[in-house]
Amino acid sequence: MHAHAHKAALQFYLDHGVDEALVDAPVDRTKVKEKPVVVAQELPKKQAASAPQPSASSPQQEVLLGASDARAEAVKLAQAANTLDELKEAIAAFDGIAIKKTATNLVFSDGNPKADVMLVGEAPGADEDRQGKPFVGESGQLLDKILGCIDLDRTEEDPQKAVYISNILNWRPPGNRTPSPAEIEVSLPFIERHIQLVQPKILIFCGGVPAKSLLASGDSISRLRKVWHDYTPQSLDGETPPIAGIATYHPAYLLRTPAQKKAVWADMLSIKAKLSELRS
Ligand code: URA
Repeated sequence: MHAHAHKAALQFYLDHGVDEALVDAPVDRTKVKEKPVVVAQELPKKQAASAPQPSASSPQQEVLLGASDARAEAVKLAQAANTLDELKEAIAAFDGIAIKKTATNLVFSDGNPKADVMLVGEAPGADEDRQGKPFVGESGQLLDKILGCIDLDRTEEDPQKAVYISNILNWRPPGNRTPSPAEIEVSLPFIERHIQLVQPKILIFCGGVPAKSLLASGDSISRLRKVWHDYTPQSLDGETPPIAGIATYHPAYLLRTPAQKKAVWADMLSIKAKLSELRS
């Protein structure tokens, strides 16, 4: 094949979201006999309603059972974790999310866990997956600049100037697709426990996915912005004092729509004012 044909083939893969080599040699999946993966997947409602009750273990039943089992297992594992290290281990051990298989690294967090401010994004992208750290790609660089405008820095040791960062999903969805509702559902107990363990003074929901899923709301990000929310976990037992939470636009959206930077600047000023209020 000529060089330009190779280039065109690679471009074709890239355009379809295939941007990572998982193994050195290709695998013919039509010849591999694998056990069905027990994962959180959704079946169309009609199909789910008419599916046979679990007794034998047909692949379809295993998948069907997997969705609720996976959520229950996630809640159990998350609640049993009493430190951030234990939580990271629990996430690494959890097999109820299929994208774990295609991801290169677990992306848990970055920054100072003692920070007054915690930011939660959507899911790792290709750069984050490679480095095992959230927000290290192009949108992460913009995020650092935005936070820097109100003197917040993920490398700071002083909790008042530091920021701690994580995501709803700890694994990269292939091709950077939007996380599915089932993936969000099984990931929520872990990020909610993560927030509980860090106990920040302020929580930033960075983008529509974290805002809607952590606030259990069907409203759009533009409706959820501009007001302070009392955040409490929905998937975990026990009383947790509410945390002041605010939603803002995701930096990837700002890269596509720079006119919205003005709105994010207003959100940052609101965070700065809230921090002064909470510290006074
Ligand atoms: N976008 C996110 O939401 N999180 C990351 O870690 C990177 C990009």
